[in-house]
Amino acid sequence: MAGAISLACTTPDEARPPHSAETRAAIESLSLSRLAPPPPSPDNRYADDLDAAVLGHRLFFDRRLSADGRIACASCHQPDYWFTEPRPTARGLRPLPRRTPTLVGAAWLPFLHWDGREDGLWSQALAPLESPDEHGASRRDVARVIAAHHREPYEAVFGPLLDPDAADDASIDAIFMNAGRALEAYVRRLQPAPAPFDRFVDALREGDPRGGGHLTAAAERGLHAFIGPAGCLHCHHGPLLTDRAFHNLGLPPAIGVPDDDPGRALGARRALEAPFRCGGPHSETTDCPELRFLDPEAEGLLGAFKTPSLRNVAARPPYMHGGHFEDLAAVLSFYRTLPGEAAIGRRAAVLHQMDRGVSAEDLEAFLESLTGSPPDLRWRTPPPDLP
Ligand code: HEC
Ligand code: HEC
Repeated sequence: MAGAISLACTTPDEARPPHSAETRAAIESLSLSRLAPPPPSPDNRYADDLDAAVLGHRLFFDRRLSADGRIACASCHQPDYWFTEPRPTARGLRPLPRRTPTLVGAAWLPFLHWDGREDGLWSQALAPLESPDEHGASRRDVARVIAAHHREPYEAVFGPLLDPDAADDASIDAIFMNAGRALEAYVRRLQPAPAPFDRFVDALREGDPRGGGHLTAAAERGLHAFIGPAGCLHCHHGPLLTDRAFHNLGLPPAIGVPDDDPGRALGARRALEAPFRCGGPHSETTDCPELRFLDPEAEGLLGAFKTPSLRNVAARPPYMHGGHFEDLAAVLSFYRTLPGEAAIGRRAAVLHQMDRGVSAEDLEAFLESLTGSPPDLRWRTPPPDLP
């Protein structure tokens, strides 16, 4: 593909030669207009139910769903920071060894977390509630908070709520799982919106070779490097700019981040045993292709982490699973030189030092063009009656 890179960017706008068909196809493949709706969630029949999302929205912001009454999902997944947070690694009741990922676009991910240890959004949501490091709540605590503060929206979706202090464990589990289903319905609504790059592609499609002027010359050069000689497209492709797979980049050490984290090698094994997994004891389906084809022994999983979406990336530093880099310049300087060796496993073979002709400033300008508007204000604002 590198041969197709015309570096048209150095020529004046009027004289810009048309892109080759191959380049054009690569550019269009990244456009948000190519994004299909989120894949169905076979284990959650409420996944696209608006009332369930309304309940999920309430639960997401409710700090009472924690052992100390101070931690909500929104404490780490901050709505005004793209549902991630500025600190490099998360802190719940105790510090966590990984960075809080953005939730914008999570609905499209077949595996959740940096190591992909959960295969669904509703089951994923239950883990932090119970984790002693995060919310530290018990299942019965969750049912009690719902009964006391969210009864009406809960019953509107799931029907009559039993008295949490009289209910048996199986009924408590059912309420707890419904909380996860509502949280999934909410998180599924946090979707990326078109960015300058998408408007650029729309204009190209409408026949304007300048792409409506939506990209600066530097961003356009960066785009060509991204899909060409810089080799980014290998892992960051499709409208979300992720292959939804796991790779070992061989990152340098970072504070508070263990350098022997096995990443996907352990995450894949855990996904096959997760209590609320597709096809598991609580599941309503046996149709689970992602898990059926998952091989925890596959090569390259040791020290591998999920390729994050690059949508809105410039607006939500720091970067990587441990917040290793404080800005995009540092990320690109890493990709340029690939210093050192992987502390665990082996660095992905497709990574190679960027050739000198690729400008980090141009790549950065392109990444900046991927920032669109944040999700709907309605979903970013806490429900008014919560403390
Ligand atoms: C203490 C901070 C904290 C709290 C509270 C928290 N999370 Fe997270 N969340 C994280 C971190 C850190 C990760 C990544 C964990 C990992 O990879 O091991 C994560 C991962 C996720 C993911 C996976 C995203 C992806 O791209 O893979 C989702 C979805 C999510 N959290 C939703 C929630 C919901 C819903 C709640 C509330 C029930 C919640 N989180 C509470 C910090 C937090
Ligand atoms: C081998 C696959 C692969 C290639 C090639 C690749 N990336 Fe990545 N990228 C990843 C993975 C995996 C991560 C997360 C790694 C981690 O946290 O351990 C990542 C993280 C990032 C991040 C941080 C995002 C965030 O939310 O933290 C940026 C920015 C990024 N890549 C840009 C690029 C650019 C620009 C290129 C081309 C120069 C590139 N990547 C090439 C796989 C790749």
